[in-house]
Amino acid sequence: MAFMKKYLLPILVLFLAYYYSTKEEFRPEMLQGKKVIVTGASKGIGREMAYHLSEMGAHLVLTARSEEGLQKVVSRCLELGAASAQYIAGTMEDMTFAEQFVLKAGKLMGGLDMLILNHITYTPMGFFHDDIHALRKAMEVNFISYVVMSVAALPMLKQNNGSIVVVSSMAGKMSHPLVAPYSASKFALDGFFSSIRKEYGVTKVNVSITLCVLGLINTETALKATSGVFSAQASPKEECALEIIKGAALRKDEVYYDSWSWTPILLANPGRKIMEFLSIKNFVFDKLVSS
Ligand SMILES: NC(=O)c1ccc[n+]([C@@H]2O[C@H](COP(=O)([O-])OP(=O)(O)OC[C@H]3O[C@@H](n4cnc5c(N)ncnc54)[C@H](OP(=O)(O)O)[C@@H]3O)[C@@H](O)[C@H]2O)c1
Ligand SMILES: *[C@@H]1O[C@H](CO)[C@@H](O)[C@H](O)[C@H]1NC(C)=O
Ligand SMILES: *[C@@H]1O[C@H](CO)[C@@H](O)[C@H](O)[C@H]1NC(C)=O
Repeated sequence: MAFMKKYLLPILVLFLAYYYSTKEEFRPEMLQGKKVIVTGASKGIGREMAYHLSEMGAHLVLTARSEEGLQKVVSRCLELGAASAQYIAGTMEDMTFAEQFVLKAGKLMGGLDMLILNHITYTPMGFFHDDIHALRKAMEVNFISYVVMSVAALPMLKQNNGSIVVVSSMAGKMSHPLVAPYSASKFALDGFFSSIRKEYGVTKVNVSITLCVLGLINTETALKATSGVFSAQASPKEECALEIIKGAALRKDEVYYDSWSWTPILLANPGRKIMEFLSIKNFVFDKLVSS
């Protein structure tokens, strides 16, 4: 009973207050003139995000490996009304490129408001046997490069009260067979970025981190990868891209987008949130917070 009074009631009140608090509404003008990086922007969800951001009047620097693909996307972005649109091609297997890309993009735009991390290395679905090379590559491209880019971007993001947007998957919140390396890299994103979100809270770094948990989306790559091995209703990539941008602009911690409306309720994991809320009290930050 004491436990109930001490913890559960305040938590319940907090949750209710959170869910029913009048939330700010999204307006496309929120992105007008904002300086945004989108990775993996040559096709799929990344390309759709670039198109939406262009219509909203953002400045863009895009990246992926395919120079030809990026060129086409950039021309279309300019037609759609981007304040500016440029690209730098390269591979996120190369951490020096990842870091230098962010610094160059920041120079091109004269600052940075939003870093949208979206690229992944292609991994066909299949049973995991012994392909450590594929596992390492998934971790490097899908996870480590995200951290490298965030580190490079942080000084610029701090200056503008900016945002980091991490595109993840339901496979980064629950287990699926046939995607072990991919799933490991997506879980790693949750562990790392949710942890530094807490640190930013403690150290008063006003940079939001939005983790996006997506179900199956109808991109060419996903439809090809899942064909004959996984069937679920694929949601439209255009709407998916817009939901990510909305959540990012509203500085949400997490965005859920899936064809099944129960997904956010079932995957949001209130047990974890309660544990996180309770355990934060066990930490002492005084010695570590210097500046
Ligand atoms: N589609 C889905 O069903 C689904 C579901 C859940 C989560 N997601 C997440 O949504 C995001 C986008 O997925 P998508 O379906 O839109 O993928 P996609 O269409 O295959 O696009 C992937 C992008 O990443 C780039 N890329 C691939 N390898 C790269 C490398 N080594 N270095 C740099 N860039 C590289 C690709 O361009 P280049 O080939 O030109 O490099 C492309 O622009 C991913 O984070 C994915 O995990 C997607
Ligand atoms: C960042 O947010 C603080 C607090 O709302 C505000 O005072 C400051 O002007 C903001 N800075 C920028 C660059 O928007
Ligand atoms: C953080 O930045 C956002 C966006 O500029 C601003 O609305 C908010 O007031 C800032 N919060 C703090 C605590 O400075």
